Parts: sequence; structure tokens; C-alpha cells
Amino acid sequence: MMLPFFLFTALVGFVTAGNAGWGEPCSQENNRLQLGTWQFWDECNSKTYCAANSTCAHKGCRRDDYPFGYNVGSDFAPKCPRGTFCPDEEDACMPQQPVDSPCQLNRDDQCQGPPDFKALAGKNELGLNVNGSVCINNVCMWANVTEGEPCAVENTPYIVYGVSRQETVDIVSRGNCRLGLYCDAQQHRCIAARRIGEECDADKECETFNCLSSGRCGAIPRKPSEVGVWVYVLVCVGIILGMFGTLFGLYWVHRSQREAERERRLQYWREQNMFHQSLTQLKETARSSIMSVRSSVSLMPGQSDSQQPILQHPVPRAPSSLRYQHIE
Ligand SMILES: *[C@@H]1O[C@H](CO)[C@@H](O)[C@H](O)[C@H]1NC(C)=O
Ligand SMILES: *[C@@H]1O[C@H](CO)[C@@H](O)[C@H](O)[C@H]1NC(C)=O
Ligand SMILES: *[C@@H]1O[C@H](CO)[C@@H](O)[C@H](O)[C@H]1NC(C)=O
Repeated sequence: MMLPFFLFTALVGFVTAGNAGWGEPCSQENNRLQLGTWQFWDECNSKTYCAANSTCAHKGCRRDDYPFGYNVGSDFAPKCPRGTFCPDEEDACMPQQPVDSPCQLNRDDQCQGPPDFKALAGKNELGLNVNGSVCINNVCMWANVTEGEPCAVENTPYIVYGVSRQETVDIVSRGNCRLGLYCDAQQHRCIAARRIGEECDADKECETFNCLSSGRCGAIPRKPSEVGVWVYVLVCVGIILGMFGTLFGLYWVHRSQREAERERRLQYWREQNMFHQSLTQLKETARSSIMSVRSSVSLMPGQSDSQQPILQHPVPRAPSSLRYQHIE
């Protein structure tokens, strides 16, 4: 199935939008769905559609809240009220169609809802049906087929791109089974969807519409991940530990720095003290030597003050007198 599809892709290529403006000629025969995205395309630009008289006319309705291609603040066509729909061409609102009427690809909203729409309507926004009705193979149906009963299935290949722009195909398979069932493409019968953790081959086989690459059903991708209480506790403990760890770490660093600084100062003090002591010793030695010289020469008696520092000591005077005595 994939090889011819790729060949087809290579031949057709992609065109994003038509560019014919209002009043310009166009041909409805060129209306088509773009391959790979299955988006509707015509020759007219995004503000116009190709009318029956083969000219581009202003659009009569819109499907998006903020339609593409309009300037900010400009007027655009209204959305369609309940019970009607805006077709892919966006020409005018049309009433919803009964069962077995034609509809456009994936436009479940073009079909009238069943009487028991409340029980059949799809939940979880998985796109299984709209108000209990589905458009399968361009025919309106109700999604009401029960388990084991024959069903209709439609496989649509979409082109998807990987991280490095490699092209792959994502096949979306839809059917008219009730919620919780899927239409098997081989047997064409409704089969119960599998729960999380059970084996699967395609997304549609899972209740959650998410078949993981491991071949088992996973949780709904958009479901917010819930974490256990222990994670919160762990995070809180981590935050508190981080706070106090930083606090004590800084305390230890500062303390060791302070210790080192104190040790340095102590060392400096010891050195200074040593210098002081040796200086005092030097003084003592000098004084004693001078004293011995004095006593031997018997100088003035008032000069024996031991508290006087060595530099203020009248040393120069004493030797000078000594010298004079020697000379005399
Ligand atoms: C073509 O049809 C559209 C829609 O009906 C209309 O608005 C437009 O005036 C028509 N153009 C011509 C040239 O008749
Ligand atoms: C769903 O379908 C029922 C039956 O056709 C209809 O009455 C109801 O308005 C629809 N609800 C919505 C939201 O379209
Ligand atoms: C189921 O839907 C089909 C249309 O798709 C309808 O013809 C048929 O009557 C419905 N069956 C039940 C039991 O409602």
C-alpha cells in the first residue's frame, strides 16, 4: 500500500493554495483534496471560492474562529449555526445530512446526529465521531455498530515528517463502531478496543488511541502526567536539603577561611614576637657590653638606667668621651 502511495506523491507534489482573486476565472473541476494532508484546494485564494459560474466569489461561511488569509480586523464570513455546516468550499451554510447522504472526508459534522446521540457521542476529543455520527467513505452513518457486527472502515494515509524531514506515512483508520470498539480492516467487524498495556498494531485498537512503538497501548498523549505524593515529598526534601546544604557549605568554607586567616595572623604575631625578643636580647647584650666597658672605665654614676632603649641610649656620647679620654 505504501509504495504506490509514494510514487503518487512524487508525481503530484504539493501546492499550498490557489491565487486567483475575486472575480477572476476558475474551474470547479480543479477542486481537490491535497495529497498527504487531505486539505481542500481550489484555484481561488483564501478569501474566495470557485463559484458555479466559474469565477472566484467571496466566501459565504467559515469553519475557523480566525480564518487564514485575512488581515487583522477585516470582516469575514459567519460561522454556521447548529444543525447546519460549512462545507470544505466555504460557499454557504448547508443543513446537516441524514444517514446514507454524501459527505466530505472527515466531516462527521455534516451528518445529522442519531436519536441516541448522547450515548453514542465520542468523548475525550479523540475525533471518533461528532454527536454520534460519522462520515465513512463519504457516506453519513451513525457510530452505532455493536461488537461482532459488520462495520464500515476507512483508512486514510497522511504524510508526516520526522525530525530530519524524512517522509513517512501515518494511516488513520476510522469506522462506525460504537465507542470502545474498533472496525477491523480484514474482518470488517467491530472488535473491543484494548486497554493500556495490552498488545496492539494500530492506534485505533487502543481505547486511548495511542499504540506505542513497543506494540502496547499507552495513555492518551495529551493526558497530563500525574506524579505520586512521594515525588512531591522528594522534591520538597531536595529543596530543603539544597537550601541547608548551601548554607552549611558556605558556613564551612567561611570557617576554614577564617581559621586560615587566624593562623596567618598568629604566625605573624609569633614572628613579630620573636623579632622583638631577639631585639631585646641584642639590646641586653649591647648594654651589658657597654656596662662592662663603663665599669672598667668608671664613668658617670647616673647613666646606669637599664630601661632606656638602645637607640635613645646616649651611646654616642659615652664612646666619644671614651675616645677623648683615650686621646688624652
Ligand atoms: C458568480 O456567482 C457568485 C455567487 O453566486 C456571484 O456572487 C457573482 O456575482 C457571480 N459572478 C458573475 C460574473 O456572474
Ligand atoms: C446532536 O444530534 C441531535 C439529534 O440530531 C440534535 O438534536 C442535537 O442538537 C445535536 N447536538 C449537537 C451539539 O449538534
Ligand atoms: C445504526 O445506524 C444505522 C445508520 O448508520 C441505522 O440505519 C440503524 O438503524 C442504526 N441501528 C440502531 C440499532 O440504531
